[in-house]
Amino acid sequence: MFHDVFGHLPVLCDNDYASFVYKVGLLGKKYSFSPECVDLIERFYWYSIEFGLVKENGEIKIFGAGIISSYGETNRIVKDSSVEIKEFNLAEILYLPFDKSSLQPIYYVAGSFKELYLALDELTFILEKTLEKEKVLVM
Ligand SMILES: [Fe+2]
Repeated sequence: MFHDVFGHLPVLCDNDYASFVYKVGLLGKKYSFSPECVDLIERFYWYSIEFGLVKENGEIKIFGAGIISSYGETNRIVKDSSVEIKEFNLAEILYLPFDKSSLQPIYYVAGSFKELYLALDELTFILEKTLEKEKVLVM
């Protein structure tokens, strides 16, 4: 409950972000029948909605609910200069497994919420290609 109220709800007041989250939800519903597509959407979700960072006026800001609602994750990003923060890279995050049981070893920073929203077109393209591959394998 704390995670949802403190981590997810406040940032949903941003229209660009709310549109982004809504569209991710639609993708999850549309591709829910494909385990491989669900894996891709899950990783996208993980490295953005749960553990994402975004640039705002030249500063890196936390928006991922998994960070905001965790003292350890937040403290690590703010105080640990050795933490790895990389530019948002769709092709990289879609195939990067994550561990739910420990602090994240890497975080990705998007240029804006609009950039994340626009990345959904590329994600959709990749999901369609993934489905095509699954169909070929079944035939
Ligand atoms: Fe969450």
